[in-house]
Amino acid sequence: MKRVKTLKKAIFPAAGLGTRFLPATKSTPKEMFPVVDKPLIQYAVEEAIYSGIDELIFIINKPENIISDHFKISTKLEKELLRKKEKSLLKLIKSIIPKSVKFFFIEQNKPAGLGHAINCAKELIQDEDFAVILADDLIYAKTPCLKQMLSKHSQTKKNILSIEHVEKKDIMKYGIIEIDKKKTSRKFYKIKSIVEKPKPSKAKSNLAVVGRYIFSSKILKYIKKAKPSIGNEIQITDAIQKLLQEEDIYGYEFKGKRFDCGSKIGYLKANVEYGLKHLEMKVPFKKYLKSMKF
Ligand code: G1P
Repeated sequence: MKRVKTLKKAIFPAAGLGTRFLPATKSTPKEMFPVVDKPLIQYAVEEAIYSGIDELIFIINKPENIISDHFKISTKLEKELLRKKEKSLLKLIKSIIPKSVKFFFIEQNKPAGLGHAINCAKELIQDEDFAVILADDLIYAKTPCLKQMLSKHSQTKKNILSIEHVEKKDIMKYGIIEIDKKKTSRKFYKIKSIVEKPKPSKAKSNLAVVGRYIFSSKILKYIKKAKPSIGNEIQITDAIQKLLQEEDIYGYEFKGKRFDCGSKIGYLKANVEYGLKHLEMKVPFKKYLKSMKF
């Protein structure tokens, strides 16, 4: 029997300024930073593909940039690897762009916020449900975070945001949800309200939205209506708060470990932890770390 797909498109917003990581982000989008040997955006793409997504929509800052280059066939490089008989490297390079998926690149001509970035894909989304992945939230999980969410989505058909508990001092960095206690099951919470980057004293919980979302196309209507708010940007959080008037939205506490690779400390932690798991690197890297004197 043919598998009925609930969702096939994912948006990867990647046109932000990355100010938390200057000067590295002056000309390189943070999504292209490598963790060990792979750029963050490729981890995000692999998560989407393993989760069954087959249309990948990138929102980038120019019609073409190093992100679109990364996902284009490089005939020159392939020829060179072939000439040098580097079969495994050739296979590695080819695997970045599976034939089964479609890549789309859309320009966001100004950094006007996450809501604005998502809206750039409206022509491709039309009236379909879709996912959003923020590549700088790298999530290590046995079952990819998006796949966990899609399984909840196929059961419920609801809008779903991935969430995790954060420390009080970090509340001001995230969209924070208020949950409807009467209609909440373990790890899957019905959302009552959401506020972007509240003061810890005003926050309704310490449950923060991290960079994975599943939306019905209705969200686009509310993004269109949203006025610039925090940072003079069109915030997805404001549109989510409005969508709550019309549709149910759930917060899903995923199984896995998230690294905030848009921050220096999160990025360093990710490189250490992924380095210690990397097939070739784990033995020499562990040896090196053990030899270090702090
Ligand atoms: C964005 C969202 C925020 C969310 C966060 C997850 O914030 O606006 O609601 O909690 O991503 O990483 P940003 O990191 O762009 O400031």
